[in-house]
Amino acid sequence: MSTLFSPFQLRDLVFKNRIFVSPMCQYSCTDGLANDWHLVHLGSRAVGGAALVMVEASAVTPAGRISPQDMGIWSDAHTAALAPIADFIKTNGAVPAIQLAHAGRKASTPAPWLGSAALSPEQGGWPVLAPSALAFSDASPHPAALDRVQIEQLVADFVVAAQRSLEAGFEVIELHFAHGYLLHEFLSPLSNSRTDDYGGSLENRARFPLEVAHAVRAVWPQTLPVFVRLSTTDWAEGGWDLAQSIQLSHWLKAIGIDLIDCSSGGLVPHARVPVAPGFQTPNATAIRSAVEMPVGAVGLITSPAQAEQIVATGLADVVLLARELLRDPYWPLHAAQVLGDTVDWPQQYERAQPPRRK
Ligand SMILES: Cc1cc2nc3c(=O)[nH]c(=O)nc-3n(C[C@H](O)[C@H](O)[C@H](O)COP(=O)(O)O)c2cc1C
Repeated sequence: MSTLFSPFQLRDLVFKNRIFVSPMCQYSCTDGLANDWHLVHLGSRAVGGAALVMVEASAVTPAGRISPQDMGIWSDAHTAALAPIADFIKTNGAVPAIQLAHAGRKASTPAPWLGSAALSPEQGGWPVLAPSALAFSDASPHPAALDRVQIEQLVADFVVAAQRSLEAGFEVIELHFAHGYLLHEFLSPLSNSRTDDYGGSLENRARFPLEVAHAVRAVWPQTLPVFVRLSTTDWAEGGWDLAQSIQLSHWLKAIGIDLIDCSSGGLVPHARVPVAPGFQTPNATAIRSAVEMPVGAVGLITSPAQAEQIVATGLADVVLLARELLRDPYWPLHAAQVLGDTVDWPQQYERAQPPRRK
C-alpha cells in the first residue's frame, strides 16, 4: 500500500487516506447561506474519495466576508444550511471540515468574475476592519483599525462560529490565519502598525490570533482536531516569514492545535512568489521538523507520484489539493489506481471501476 492511501489519525479521528480537499471559495451564496451548489460541489469531492472535504472560508460575521457571495456561519440559518452538506460528506466516507475566517481589510470586494475594484455602498459594499488603517492596495477599501472591544467581540464570534460548526456536524475546524485576511494581517508587520498589546513584537502581533485559537480549542471537543492555515511567508521584505511561522506554530501546538496547513502569500500585492510545483512544501517540512507537529502541504500538488513522495518521505503528513480537485473531483480514486492501491469506490459507481490488479 502507498503512504498516500494509508490511514492517518489526529485525536480520535481517523482519516482514510492523506488527501484533503483544500478550502475553495465558490462565491455562490446569497446572504452567506450554503445551497445546492455547495452540496453538489463538496459532495462530489467526498464521493471522489478524498479523506477530508473542507468547506470554503466561512465568515464569522457579515463584515468578514470577502465578497457578498461568500459563505457565512453567523446565524442559526447558516448552521441549518450547512448541516445537510456535512451529513452528505460524512455519509459518503469523508470527514466534514470547515474553514472559519474573517477577511479583514480584504473584505467588501466583488466575486472574481464580477470585477476587482472595491465595492461601493451602492454596490453592496461595507466598512472594512483591520489591525491598522492600512489598505491592501490603492484599489482596496480603506480599513478602520479595530479597537480592543471589537477584538474581544471577534474572539467571541469565532467561538460561536465553532459551536455552530459542531452543531452542523463538522468534525474538523480550520482557522484561517493566511492569505492576507484578518488574522494574518495581525501577524505581519507589513499590515500591523499598532502600538498597543496587539502590535509591535511578535508576541503582540500573535496575541489576537492566539486568543482566537485558544478560545476555539476550548470549545471544540477534545476528541476532534483543530487546524490552522498559515501563510508561512509573505514573500516580501520586512514581512511575516518562516522563522516567525515556526515560533507561532510552537505556541499553537502548546494550545492544542493539531495540524498546520502550510500555505503562503496574499498579504501584499507586491509579493514575489516563486510559483512552481510544490513550492510551499519546503516550509511545511521546516515546520514539521522544527515543531514536531503534523503539517499539511498545499500548492501545485497535482500528480499521484508527487503527492505520494511528499507523504512517504515525511515532507508532510497530508496533502491538500485545490485546483486539481476542481479539474477532477475523482482524483483520489484515479490516484489510487495509478499507485496500485485498492480503495472502495461508491457502490453506485462500481461498474465503472477499472479491473483490480492481482
Ligand atoms: C477557487 C479558489 C478558491 C479558494 N478559496 C480559498 C479559501 O476559501 N480559503 C483558503 O484558505 N484558500 C483558498 N484558496 C486557495 C486554495 O485552498 C489553495 O491553497 C491554492 O489554490 C493552492 O493549491 P492548488 O495549487 O492545489 O490549487 C482558493 C483557491 C481557489 C482556486
